[in-house]
Amino acid sequence: PDRDALIARLPKAELHLHIEGSLEPEMLFALAARNGVEIPFASAEEVRAAYSFSNLQDFLDIYYQGMSVLLHEQDFYDLTWAYLERAKADNVRHVEIFFDPQGHTERGVAFETVLDGIERALKDGEARLGITYRLIMCFLRHLSEEEAFATLEQARPHLDRIHGVGLDSSEVGHPPSKFERVFAKARELGLHVTAHAGEEGPPEYVHEALDLLKVERLDHGNRALEDDALVERLVREGTTFTVCPLSNLRLCVIDRIEDSPVKRMLELGLKATVNADDPSYFGGYINDNYRAVAEGLDLSAEQIVELAENSFTGSFLPPDEQAAHL
Ligand code: ADE
Ligand code: ZN
Repeated sequence: PDRDALIARLPKAELHLHIEGSLEPEMLFALAARNGVEIPFASAEEVRAAYSFSNLQDFLDIYYQGMSVLLHEQDFYDLTWAYLERAKADNVRHVEIFFDPQGHTERGVAFETVLDGIERALKDGEARLGITYRLIMCFLRHLSEEEAFATLEQARPHLDRIHGVGLDSSEVGHPPSKFERVFAKARELGLHVTAHAGEEGPPEYVHEALDLLKVERLDHGNRALEDDALVERLVREGTTFTVCPLSNLRLCVIDRIEDSPVKRMLELGLKATVNADDPSYFGGYINDNYRAVAEGLDLSAEQIVELAENSFTGSFLPPDEQAAHL
């Protein structure tokens, strides 16, 4: 229908994409063979069948296991390049991608190997596909504050290549307050800051992300809607939410796509955006996510355009570059 054509041709930015979550089963197999890594699956079909999750932790266990095939600079290049080609097909003009260095350094892969491969693909994407980028380094929140500080130290020589920090992995039991000092240091170093908050965790975690981490946007943020005063504040402050509809569905954050908070957020005056999170695990790239909410929530053309515009105004691009996309 018209709506799908509109989604296909709308220029958009993707603000919530874990590059390790774009590892398709076919590439998982190819890299396992190339690197001589054993994986507990016989076929890509078998892998896809294993992608059935009841919550965030179920998914994370498989996601960290999938990373085991990523060893060399070229692996990180190939992973990132495949995502960028897919993004190009969806008319994505700007990406702000997350990477999880601790998922690799704890396996003995050097921080620089990860950064070099991802960045080389991002630079090629800018030159050959016209997709601009920002790179956001996430801290794994199930690990300690000390380990996050050590990761920030590893990033220190490369701060001209990393634009921001984020916070991901198991949310409940690991509140933003655990990383208050690390984020203060990151801000002092001139990095942008964002955090996953209110995906499974309570509204209190969203308050902490704002007040203690001083995040510039909220990744997911679904459960902020349970707190009216918080919603009022987020409307007033114009905070961008990076919502991930198919992720929410596959991780049982919502029961049905009709329960996605995207439309309610727009109606409340919140700056919602639509993103894929971990597309190879959740059954869809960015336009699949747009189509799912457009149909499930019966979004108007104006609302679809608003989501795409929010993706640029909520990005870390300078205002003149944001404006050039609107
Ligand atoms: N790591 C990758 N995807 C994630 C998500 N949706 N929530 C938390 N951590 C993640
Ligand atoms: Zn995420």
